[in-house]
Amino acid sequence: MKLKELQKTWNRLGKQDPLWAVISYPDKKGGKWAPEGFFQRGKDEISNFFEYLNKLGVAIPRRQALDFGCGAGRLRQALAPNFDKVVGVDISPSMIKVAQQYNRFGDRCRYYVNERDDLALFKDNSFDPVISLLVLQHMHPQYIRRYLAEFMRVLAPRGVLYFQLTNRYLGSEDQRASTDGYRENMATGHRMRTLIKNVTPEPLQQLYRTIRDWRKEPLMEMYGIESSEVESFLKEHGGVLVDAVEKPFAPSKWECFWYCVTKS
Ligand SMILES: C[S@@+](CC[C@H](N)C(=O)[O-])C[C@H]1O[C@@H](n2cnc3c(N)ncnc32)[C@H](O)[C@@H]1O
Repeated sequence: MKLKELQKTWNRLGKQDPLWAVISYPDKKGGKWAPEGFFQRGKDEISNFFEYLNKLGVAIPRRQALDFGCGAGRLRQALAPNFDKVVGVDISPSMIKVAQQYNRFGDRCRYYVNERDDLALFKDNSFDPVISLLVLQHMHPQYIRRYLAEFMRVLAPRGVLYFQLTNRYLGSEDQRASTDGYRENMATGHRMRTLIKNVTPEPLQQLYRTIRDWRKEPLMEMYGIESSEVESFLKEHGGVLVDAVEKPFAPSKWECFWYCVTKS
């Protein structure tokens, strides 16, 4: 999925059911997340992050934090009491709008819609933590690599980069299609699309795609990069891997790692 399409998808998700689009528990679909419960999960996540840094013996300055792919502001609202400033970046204008509505920290939290595959908005060495959870897994690896390189560039010398990324899919492709939950009816859908593609001229295919996209729920695609590749990529970009922990993030067949990285 190209960045423009990715933006469209997340913009629709942000308009339809923003809190569910962030934490997609089936029983929370249809606006059923109570905001307090949703934001409490952000607080828990950030207090775990500080405990984890403590355990690792890593102390970071408390100036400016970057929350990349901030969504509705779940993490940023929990980061704000701990830093002078928190910057949230997201590709989706509708998600940023929701985040602004829930902001309780005024100007200390700043928001940016970023449609680019870089973070040219920010200078080198700007952020003490760069945090990105449940974001990179939804984009094609070509973008994951671009953003990881940018995270290293904007990370301050005594800061940490803390991010979560899917490693590999453990089921079969068919299972992935039918059980992932993010990919409804993809197995049948894929066969149908192949058939339609083979027999239909391009303009009609385009029309079909437009109607399908308009009618269907936007899909959160899933991708991953093997942890060994992530580690060498970070090293090439001046990263020092402090820790990588395998930790599931949902009842999913994706293997998933949480990385903690400093700058050399
Ligand atoms: C599942 S939500 C996670 C939100 C937040 N990180 C959290 O944990 O609460 C994924 C978010 O990533 C954003 N996103 C996806 N691709 C992005 C990109 N290329 N640049 C910035 N944000 C992106 C989406 O718009 C969405 O708000």
